[in-house]
Amino acid sequence: MTCAHCCDAEKLFNDRRAKRELRKYRRKGPDKSTRLLIDALLGPETAGSSLLDIGGGVGAIQHASARAGASAITAADASQAYVEVCRSEAERRGYGDRAGYHVGDFIEMAEDLPDADVVTLDRVVCCYPDMPRLVGTSAAKAGRLYGLVFPRRRWPVRAVIAVMNVFEALKRTTFRVFVHHPEEIDAAVRAAGFERTHEAKTFVWQVMVYSRA
Ligand SMILES: C[S@@+](CC[C@H](N)C(=O)[O-])C[C@H]1O[C@@H](n2cnc3c(N)ncnc32)[C@H](O)[C@@H]1O
Repeated sequence: MTCAHCCDAEKLFNDRRAKRELRKYRRKGPDKSTRLLIDALLGPETAGSSLLDIGGGVGAIQHASARAGASAITAADASQAYVEVCRSEAERRGYGDRAGYHVGDFIEMAEDLPDADVVTLDRVVCCYPDMPRLVGTSAAKAGRLYGLVFPRRRWPVRAVIAVMNVFEALKRTTFRVFVHHPEEIDAAVRAAGFERTHEAKTFVWQVMVYSRA
């Protein structure tokens, strides 16, 4: 990802949006695809485990993992605003001492981030042009489970995303949304040593969970 792309992502995922999403999350809980991912990831092994949540937004996976007893939670996000919202919500929920926060492009920071039992990318692969690099680098940090949510490659989804990208181009940002091929995402995760253990879909999103083989 170029610096400009990351800066434009930060403009899009700004303070106003982060606070609005947090209010919605507090009122209604996670969106459906995030809930499907959380349900597939959490279990008895969550207690005492570690999580690395990349591009976690307002931190729905982080909060659910903390509630289920995760002992170390790391959030890495390109948006300072989202990280601040996650941090304050973690304090409010009483698990701030188990959480660490990193702002920037995950690829740039990857070497300095801890490995974790569980690594998640919920609706983040679609922000990133070089999917094999993002998936390969993040999966290499996962010890047990790897979970991701990405847009389905069906025409209504692609049409809406094409329109979104036209608006981004008109605003002269470098930020674009990508609909990567699911088979290529699957191949990249398998190449990192994982096998698929769970799959779910909503109209827009595909949810995939992998275990280390
Ligand atoms: C569409 S939002 C998804 C947020 C949340 N996971 C959800 O599903 O509601 C994409 C998130 O990924 C972050 N992001 C995008 N590219 C990133 C990168 N290269 N490194 C770290 N975070 C990134 C954005 O800042 C944002 O928080």
